[in-house]
Amino acid sequence: MKQIVLLPGDGLGPEVMAEAVKTIGWFNKNFSAGLETSTGDIGGCSIDKHGVPLSDAILKKCREADAILLAAVGGPKWDKVDYAIRPEAGLLKLRKELELYANLRPAKVFDALVDASSLKAHIVKGLDILIVRELTGGVYFGEPRGIEKLPNGERRGVNTQVYTTHEIHRVARVAFELARKRKNKVTSCEKANVMESGKLWREEVTALHQAEYKDVELSHMYADNCAMQLLRNPSQFDVIVTDNLFGDILSDEASMLTGSLGMLPSASLGGIRPDGKRAALYEPIHGSAPDIAGKNIANPLATILSVAMMFRYSFDMMKEADLLEQAIENILNKGLRTTDIMAEGCKKLSTSEMGAALLGELDALKSTKVAARA
Ligand code: IPM
Ligand code: MG
Repeated sequence: MKQIVLLPGDGLGPEVMAEAVKTIGWFNKNFSAGLETSTGDIGGCSIDKHGVPLSDAILKKCREADAILLAAVGGPKWDKVDYAIRPEAGLLKLRKELELYANLRPAKVFDALVDASSLKAHIVKGLDILIVRELTGGVYFGEPRGIEKLPNGERRGVNTQVYTTHEIHRVARVAFELARKRKNKVTSCEKANVMESGKLWREEVTALHQAEYKDVELSHMYADNCAMQLLRNPSQFDVIVTDNLFGDILSDEASMLTGSLGMLPSASLGGIRPDGKRAALYEPIHGSAPDIAGKNIANPLATILSVAMMFRYSFDMMKEADLLEQAIENILNKGLRTTDIMAEGCKKLSTSEMGAALLGELDALKSTKVAARA
């Protein structure tokens, strides 16, 4: 059996998770996928119940699991809690403790949604970028950090951007390996013109490329230029590899090229463990969206696409991943939409209706495949 820990979290998390769970159930029933799920708390709901955003018990459960599926954390309800135990701290702790150092954030434009982008259709049509963001280092975790009081009464806030050779190599390796399965192109982004850690990043990525990945096309770009190029000519990119903070920002920007945050999944992968398994967390990149939570209008497709990534990266279930992605594409082509991607002439569905429509499409795809084989 494959053990999956589900962390629905806060805001719209539980609603979109419910639809993902139905999809997982469909694959168990129709493909004997052997996916076993259990549920845990993270973020604000965990603070409410356990006083911390991620309890030791859930962390242990996640450590032992084959994969984790998380929906969203945070919300205004927890704005006033102590900074150290804010909802986001639970997510950061999970990333750090499980050493999920490679965060894969695809930005892919579905043909049916090309007009949802704020850029012109001809610029984003067919767009397929993968951002590989370093996730357990850099300024997010660097020491020293903190807010201190100076003798003159002023206050001083400090964070530290820090990277080592090993941290750079392991994430760059993931980027090069993935590029080989795509268009074989890596753009590495930093601020080598301003930061020593960026200079090191550039040198180490270059060294690894020279030693092991000469067949992959590598270019370097300052992160600010990358932000600009993503809007000017996004199709020039295949895989972008970058640090934790620049990756956070550039992936939000790239997501908007696709027109809907509600459509984008992500995977956070760790190293191969002694038992041969790889720690892995899958989550939609949208947040908890408290303003639309509980209304049954959220788009569950980013969470369901995260399930497809889980099939692909954790369980080697390529056929199933393809089928699931195909079903989603078909649904969009039929003009079925949640509010966030609604367009003229399309049919608006609720969260649960979208989940149900997807199961219907999976049934239909399965029977046409079976018929084709007969
Ligand atoms: C993300 C989010 C997180 C981050 C927050 C919620 C801590 O913005 O996953 O991109 O900054 O990494
Ligand atoms: Mg972010």
